[in-house]
Amino acid sequence: MRLIDQTRLPAEEVYRTCRDYDEVAEAIRGMVVRGAPAIGVAAAMGVALGIKNSGARTLPALRADFERIARTLAGTRPTAVNLFWAIERMRRAFETSLSCHSSDAQVVQAVRVNLEEEAKRILAEDIAINEAMGKHGAALLPESGTVLTHCNAGALATAGYGTALGVIRAAVAQGKNIQVFADETRPFLQGARLTAWELAKDAIPVTLITDNMAGHFMKQGQIKAVIVGADRIAANGDTANKIGTYSVAVLAHENSVPFYVAAPLSTIDRSLASGEAIPIEERDSNEVTRLGGVQIAPASVSARHPAFDVTPHRYITAIITERGIAREPYTHSLNALFQ
Ligand code: MRU
Repeated sequence: MRLIDQTRLPAEEVYRTCRDYDEVAEAIRGMVVRGAPAIGVAAAMGVALGIKNSGARTLPALRADFERIARTLAGTRPTAVNLFWAIERMRRAFETSLSCHSSDAQVVQAVRVNLEEEAKRILAEDIAINEAMGKHGAALLPESGTVLTHCNAGALATAGYGTALGVIRAAVAQGKNIQVFADETRPFLQGARLTAWELAKDAIPVTLITDNMAGHFMKQGQIKAVIVGADRIAANGDTANKIGTYSVAVLAHENSVPFYVAAPLSTIDRSLASGEAIPIEERDSNEVTRLGGVQIAPASVSARHPAFDVTPHRYITAIITERGIAREPYTHSLNALFQ
């Protein structure tokens, strides 16, 4: 599997080749690939690679390998539910491969082929889902004006096109005169490094701001809407996304700016009643005390790094999915999208 190395952007556009599942796991853990849907697609590819490389000759041995591969990939990042969704989907593909084959060799071969096909299907579906989300969401954006986004919920964070940035792309394609303000997104700088890079590449006007400028521009009436992606959405609409999203949502509420979340159904975790149960990844504090590898805080100082926060559903104007738009009460409207 070839991945654009997101840790090296925007300075270098280089690709990393993963030849087995452990290399995929390392790429996810190390943020070579990041963004909830992209993590899911990568994990599916990781499972397919692991099974392809497995030396198992019997079904029990192959099943044991599957469990080891799934455990390793599932242990990489805890918040983005797409990771677990993708692994479960690969597990189902494994089970459905078992029917109609008599010998062990036939079963093992069928699983290998089916898992590779399933991973490729997940990749293709993700692009189609983003395009559908774009169509639904574009209508919510203004004819003209500035839209603020946080983190990177673009082509890089998905198999292509993007969730939040997909909605912006679709609105621009419809002829809307949209400019984007990109929060730099401390501490990992997904906004400065990735959102700015991919929008500039697409010639969509983008202006970089630091996270603490968002309130100022909203108060001045310069922001017409906020749109972000999501890593996990609870049944009641509470949404985990990149750290800092909650602050942006509160500011949007205070300034009467609509706040939209764009996410595929695979990001909705209906098993969790509210956002309180969403696990929040705590990453290495070095990502806070260092910037581009340079120490910016006294070496003796400790730092915290929760990588995500949860925005309560009451601050969310609408959730845009591939099946349409959900609004309050989310417990009902999100559930209806699955029917
Ligand atoms: O830590 P990251 O960079 O993987 O976090 C990514 C985000 O928070 C994105 O906004 C989210 O995954 C949506 S991506 C379409």
